[in-house]
Amino acid sequence: MSDALVRHPRTAPTRFHGLVTVSPTMHAVFELVTKLARTQASVLIRGETGTGKERIAQAIHELSPRAAGPFRAVNCATLTPELLASELFGHVRGAFTGAIRDRPGLFTLADGGTLFLDEVAEIPIDIQARLLRVLQEKSFVPVGGTEPIEVDVRLVAATHRSLRAAVEAGRFRADLMYRIRVVPIFIPPLRERPGDIEALTWHFVDQFNETSPRRVEAISQDAMRALTRYGWPGNVRELRNVIEYAFAVGDGPVLAHADLTPELRGEGPPDDASTPTTARDLERRRIVQALDEAGGRKGAAAELLGMSRSTLWRKMREHRLA
Ligand SMILES: Nc1ncnc2c1ncn2[C@@H]1O[C@H](COP(=O)(O)OP(=O)(O)OP(=O)(O)O)[C@@H](O)[C@H]1O
Ligand SMILES: [Mg+2]
Repeated sequence: MSDALVRHPRTAPTRFHGLVTVSPTMHAVFELVTKLARTQASVLIRGETGTGKERIAQAIHELSPRAAGPFRAVNCATLTPELLASELFGHVRGAFTGAIRDRPGLFTLADGGTLFLDEVAEIPIDIQARLLRVLQEKSFVPVGGTEPIEVDVRLVAATHRSLRAAVEAGRFRADLMYRIRVVPIFIPPLRERPGDIEALTWHFVDQFNETSPRRVEAISQDAMRALTRYGWPGNVRELRNVIEYAFAVGDGPVLAHADLTPELRGEGPPDDASTPTTARDLERRRIVQALDEAGGRKGAAAELLGMSRSTLWRKMREHRLA
């Protein structure tokens, strides 16, 4: 184990509506977001948990002509079909037991603004039909009601899994999929963004330095190595939690390997989802690490891996890293 220390980098990362990055892919996402925010197009954000999908949705709203209007969000995976219908479209008094007065739904509350539908792939099929109608006709009828209500809402949706796969499995309407993903945005997982683990580690260290009694000035090299080699199934949210943990359990100006969570120290349970299990996973991991070490330069990464540039290109495409 080495005693060498990693210091705060001098160059500042890019900041965009609360998101911090040094990744070229994320810069491209920010550019796309800035452009499409000015339009009315429906956006579908795809990315693993904790990659910043909700922050991107908020950025789209903040950069849009609707910025002064409301931003509303709902997680479609956490409500029963009945509750979700009433949450989205509202209900009229007497619509069901307990509906003692009219209640506006999110489409009404988001009028003139943006509605963010999280985990959109989980919407039950009968609600999908009603959603399609709102998107096509810009009006809907509340649960138990008769009079249509007109609204002007921009839809931004997110999913952690492929909507197309849900369509193929018969769980999602193809016509609705085309309506809501006029512009698809893909946010890559943290492990595929060379440099971002380190940049975000420092970002969160700076944050916790402001608010906690501990002051971290450097990170031990073996702690940084453990951070950059980990698979981050929970992405940026998990990284933030790991840094918060380190501030809570350790002391002194150096964030040490011992301050990391058991998963990071390699003491996680054997069935840990982040542990590579197949040769394919291992290969993918080696490529990501080499790209990271080479600062994204493919020639240098290929050299580190002992393969030709063209093999690296092909493998990157196979692993969807290109
Ligand atoms: N690039 C980033 N820079 C700084 N903070 C980030 C970044 N990406 C995500 N975060 C933070 O990580 C947390 C998770 O982000 P967010 O809720 O937007 O993720 P999500 O993709 O919607 O996750 P889920 O699928 O679990 O709902 C938030 O606190 C967010 O501010
Ligand atoms: Mg979310």
